Amino acid sequence: SDNHKLVLHRGFSFISGTHDPDEVDQINNLEIRDTDVFVITYPKSGTIWLQQILRLIETRGDIPDSANMMNSDCVPWIELVGKVKEFITAPSPRLRVTHLQYKFMPLALSQKKGKVIYVARNPKDVLVSYFYFHKLATMLETPENFSIFFEKFIRGDVFGGCWFEHIKSWYSHKDDMNILFITYEEMVQNLHLVVKKISSFLGKDLTDQQQANVVKYSTFRNMKQIPQANYQLISDQLLDHQQGTFMRKGTIGDWKNHFTVAQSEKFDQVFQKEMKDFPLSFIWD
Ligand code: PPS
Repeated sequence: SDNHKLVLHRGFSFISGTHDPDEVDQINNLEIRDTDVFVITYPKSGTIWLQQILRLIETRGDIPDSANMMNSDCVPWIELVGKVKEFITAPSPRLRVTHLQYKFMPLALSQKKGKVIYVARNPKDVLVSYFYFHKLATMLETPENFSIFFEKFIRGDVFGGCWFEHIKSWYSHKDDMNILFITYEEMVQNLHLVVKKISSFLGKDLTDQQQANVVKYSTFRNMKQIPQANYQLISDQLLDHQQGTFMRKGTIGDWKNHFTVAQSEKFDQVFQKEMKDFPLSFIWD
C-alpha cells in the first residue's frame, strides 16, 4: 500500500507519511545549542537503549520522573513529521535521536556545536533485527522471506538507506564534531563502562549510586519490564503486537541462526570492499 512506500529524497529512502522531505531539509540550518545532544543510529542499532540511557542520565538514575512518558517522547526523532518545529522552541537540554545520514544534519554540528553520539552495531545482527522489525512495524512492508530481505538490505533498499553509506558518512566527519563513537556490542558486554563513557562525555558527574541506577534500568531484562521503554504502549496501528515484541532478543550473533553460509560469505565480501578504508572493527559473535 501507499503507506509502505519508500520515497527517495537526496539519495536517501524515507517512509511516505512518516517523514516529510521539506521538513527534513530544514534540519541543515537549525541553530544548535551547546547542550543539544544527537544520538545517531542506523535502524536497529540501539536507539531505544540510548533513549533510555540519556533519559536516565538526565534524571540521575531516577525512574519516577516523567515516568508516564515514552522514551520516544523524552528523546524524540528529529526527522519525524512535526519534530523540527518542536525542536526550535524546546527547552534545553534538547536530546534527540536520528537515523539520518550525515548530509541531512545541522551544519552547526561540524563547527563543534552540540554533542553527537554514534552507536554502531555489527551489520549482520542489524539485518536480522531489521527483518523482524519489518513484520512488526505497520509502516514497513513485511518481507516475503529472509533471503529477499537480505538482498534489499545489501542494496540499501530500506529506510535508513545503505548501512555502509550511513556509517561512512558519519565516520568520515568525526573530527569536525564533538562525537562519541560506541558500539552496541560493547554495551552488551560492559554496560557499566559505556554508561560511564556517555555520562562523562555529556559532562554529567553522577555518583556511583546514580550511575548504578542508570545501568540497572537500562538492562535488556529491566527494559522489557518498563512499558515506557519498550514500545508495549504504542498503538497496534503502528506496531502489530501479534507479530512479536520490539525488545526481541538483545544479543550478539543472532545472524548465525539466520544467514546461510553463502549469505555470510557474500556479506563478508561486501563488508571488506565497502569498509577497506575505514578502521572500524566489530564484534560478530
Ligand atoms: S529502532 O527501531 O531503530 O528504534 O530500533 P533500535 O532501538 O535501534 O534497535 C532495537 C534492537 O536493540 C535491542 N535492544 C537491546 N539490546 C540489549 N540490551 C538492551 N537494553 C536493549 N534495548 C534494545 C532490541 O532488542 C533490538 O535488537 P534485536 O536483535 O532485534 O533483539
